[in-house]
Amino acid sequence: MNVTPHPAPTDRFVVRGGHPLRGTVRLSGAKNSALKLMAASLLSEGTVELTAVPRIADVPVMADVLRGLGVEVELDPAGETARLRADDPAWHAPADAVSRIRASISCLGPLVGRTGRARLALPGGDRIGARAIDLHLRGLQAMGATVVEHPGEVEVLADGLHGAAITLDFPSVGATENLVMAATRADGATLIENAAREPEIQDLCRMLVAMGARIDGIGSPNLEIEGVDRLGSVTWETCPDRIEAGTYAMAAALTGGDVVIERVRPTDLTLPLIKLRAAGVIVEEGADSLRIKAGDLEAVDVVTLPYPGFPTDLQPQLMVLLTQAQGTSRCTENVFESRFSFVQELVRMGADIEVDGHHAWIRGPVRLHGTTLAGLDVRAGAAGTLAGLVASGETIVRDVHHVDRGYADFVPRLRSIGADVERVPTDAADA
Ligand code: UD1
Repeated sequence: MNVTPHPAPTDRFVVRGGHPLRGTVRLSGAKNSALKLMAASLLSEGTVELTAVPRIADVPVMADVLRGLGVEVELDPAGETARLRADDPAWHAPADAVSRIRASISCLGPLVGRTGRARLALPGGDRIGARAIDLHLRGLQAMGATVVEHPGEVEVLADGLHGAAITLDFPSVGATENLVMAATRADGATLIENAAREPEIQDLCRMLVAMGARIDGIGSPNLEIEGVDRLGSVTWETCPDRIEAGTYAMAAALTGGDVVIERVRPTDLTLPLIKLRAAGVIVEEGADSLRIKAGDLEAVDVVTLPYPGFPTDLQPQLMVLLTQAQGTSRCTENVFESRFSFVQELVRMGADIEVDGHHAWIRGPVRLHGTTLAGLDVRAGAAGTLAGLVASGETIVRDVHHVDRGYADFVPRLRSIGADVERVPTDAADA
């Protein structure tokens, strides 16, 4: 198997602040959709052709996971396309690629649905919070599967899944996706209550329907899936990345800029746009574009929650914006317990932030100053870069392989709208 090498872990971004971002930036398909659409190919007895596949590092890693499961995968990063065929998938994925990417757990549901058996290494990815998979496993057990735990691996066996009524303790994105995919091939109807309804899950469900699945309630917290005998070929365009769009929106607002963001669905960003407007940012919505103009920034309170709540994946970037707002903002994190680990990096830049449990109080405006930051995860790395855009002097963001996992062409896109940022490769950085 051809395993994609790990990205160089010590590449870094060097950011020099003080430049308002101006211009137009066109974004990618959603990371959190594309990876699941790729996993769904395990269910297809034909060909899955995906477009708008983002040029991010997680995509070739997911391709390696699927190749390890016997799927034929052709990626064309230049054309942002992927073509996948799972004629005879294997059930035991090699650990190397699987353990590098959290989204590989999305292979569990489709694999059990298709072959009745799956064994995967426990997933990797960002180190944010416990990131358990108990809800995935309990749901599969309710559908008749047996779970066997091995050191560092989990195995799920089913002699034919049956439909079940499942109420999730929490609307977990990953658990909802796995259970929907498994249920498409179960015998009878499965009802998932308290299901997650993120736009990327809706994208997955709609693609499954186009492949022949029967799913009612898409976009609602109650999904009803009637199992079918076979899923076929599909050609599907990945939905736009709302988190990437929100990141650029905050970068524009933060730097006093004026930026048009293309390939975005404003309706996927309802609450983030409400919060940006409440913070004094001028937002103009087009059908598939946004124009973000700076205003006088004011404090706002934000609570992260599953969709349609404010996304946890935009919380670090928003916190950077709020360091520049007049007054005291409060941010409450409800999804990942250790997402505030990024705060210590911002405080080292001069931010005035106090954390108590899952609340943070941000007092602004303060002048941030450049320093060297750890890019602790994909969103923290992006947020650190944003902080550098308004800091005095030079900001160095380390460990940018995390940013590469979720943002296509981050540095070129930021530079195209006027940011002074460059990527310094390992050798030069260490010289
Ligand atoms: C997905 C996204 C991630 C986003 C998150 C929440 C992908 C690849 N990643 O992650 O970017 O931040 O949704 O919007 O799509 N939990 C359990 N038991 C479980 C499952 C989850 O306790 O079985 C907990 C997790 O530890 C976490 C919370 O529920 O605290 C949210 O997890 P979940 O919604 O499943 O997120 P992911 O699918 O991992």
